[in-house]
Amino acid sequence: MSDIIQLFKDRGQGHVFTFFDDLSADEQAGLIAEAEQIDLDEIETLVSELIQTKSAGNDAIADELEPADFIPLPENGDPELWAKAVKKGESALRTGRVAAFTVAGGQGTRLGYDGPKGTFGVTPVLKASLFQVFAEKILASTRLYGRPIPWYIMTSIINHEATVEFFERNEYFGLAPEKVHFFSQGLMPAVDADGKILLAGKANIALSPDGHGGALRALVRSGAIREMEADGIDVLSYFQVDNPLVRCIDPAFIGFHLMTNSDLSSKMVPKAYAEEKVGVFCQKNGEALVVEYSDLPDKLATELDDNGDLRFRAGSIAIHIFNRAFVQRLGSGKDKSAKLPFHLAHKKVPFLDLNGETQEPSEPNAYKFEMFVFDALPFAANPTIIETAREDDFSPVKNAEGVDSAQTCRDDQLRQFARWAAAAGIDIETDETGLPPFAFEVSPLFADSAERFVERWNGLAAKPELTNGVVLI
Ligand code: UD1
Repeated sequence: MSDIIQLFKDRGQGHVFTFFDDLSADEQAGLIAEAEQIDLDEIETLVSELIQTKSAGNDAIADELEPADFIPLPENGDPELWAKAVKKGESALRTGRVAAFTVAGGQGTRLGYDGPKGTFGVTPVLKASLFQVFAEKILASTRLYGRPIPWYIMTSIINHEATVEFFERNEYFGLAPEKVHFFSQGLMPAVDADGKILLAGKANIALSPDGHGGALRALVRSGAIREMEADGIDVLSYFQVDNPLVRCIDPAFIGFHLMTNSDLSSKMVPKAYAEEKVGVFCQKNGEALVVEYSDLPDKLATELDDNGDLRFRAGSIAIHIFNRAFVQRLGSGKDKSAKLPFHLAHKKVPFLDLNGETQEPSEPNAYKFEMFVFDALPFAANPTIIETAREDDFSPVKNAEGVDSAQTCRDDQLRQFARWAAAAGIDIETDETGLPPFAFEVSPLFADSAERFVERWNGLAAKPELTNGVVLI
């Protein structure tokens, strides 16, 4: 008997091999390979610490939390400091120190879209995909700073092949293929309430991605970090796949990160309302951290300060800059004192029972374990948080309808294009929210900021009329 089967039996997980003798040689090898990825010590610890021990409850943390400090926008703070940051960031870009990094391994269940989320069409006229928007922003920065900006994309077993195929089919949207790197994130098994690992089929364990926090170890395991080191890259500009407004490459943000010698920098926007589903930057015993929306006690989420603003208002929009050496330290797992914790998610997970029958539970039956990348914050030296304008950095597509949907994101893109047009003196009538009455589009290759738009527009010999369906490329 294979050692791994014996090991699983000894640790009370032998049921994973219930149907082993019915399998073909290939299937047996596949199941063994899946089992070998599982760290049984880790699973045992997680089951005993997260499932079998009742948590202390939210109120326990409430007393110790303080709002985090952040650098306000130039109009609310120090314009000279921002100008210095922009210069510093631009210089890092001109010397080729910066890579872009997208986490795109999630399942996108809430959107109800069948395919990698990055392939979802989001722009108002062309319905260009999220991946295309990011690619063109990166290409625009590459042209502006005269240095290639490598792009690392984390996928997962669910969408890796389809993602790579999408880029190939679209010729990498004009980027140099050798500068676009894909790697798959790690997996964790789902377990039942007794900590037993679930089977997805006779030859498969119920495995799912280990959360975007898995990015740190995946960057190390895939060799990406070593490659960046060889290429002289030490700044990783991190963003999620769901937000086409993000400034993928933002010189001011990069500059602040470098000026403060930060291991991990983050952007915040003031929360729009107390219940908004974003994590919140806080401090606890002098360390910065993000408290996820579901974990922030109500009394803190709704508390007001002396100005009548939400006291805990620094919303995390999941835009960060990582220092390469910091990723290496956390992702290699060598520093035992700096390990991302796992979070527990109680979910409905279809599984094969021990009679070989597939069960489709109607209630949550299983626990999944996920790491969150922002849990790296307490381990970071000089964590820096800067404010950004929501309308220029954040409008995610998360839901099929309502808030954070394709519709709200399309409208936010249109408002941005209309603001840029207004900055160039183009007269477009908008409603009171800034939304124009027709759809037009500005490709990032034409302009990816108001300043750039004005410059490009003024340079056009023949200026098109901005009407319905017009696209500036
Ligand atoms: C997330 C943040 C929240 C933040 C908000 C901003 C978490 C737990 N919460 O919420 O604090 O305010 O975004 O929009 O992240 N992903 C992977 N692999 C995984 C899981 C996710 O790559 O295993 C990627 C997804 O592809 C996506 C991103 O991580 O790009 C966000 O994941 P999602 O689960 O949608 O987070 P939210 O709950 O929306």
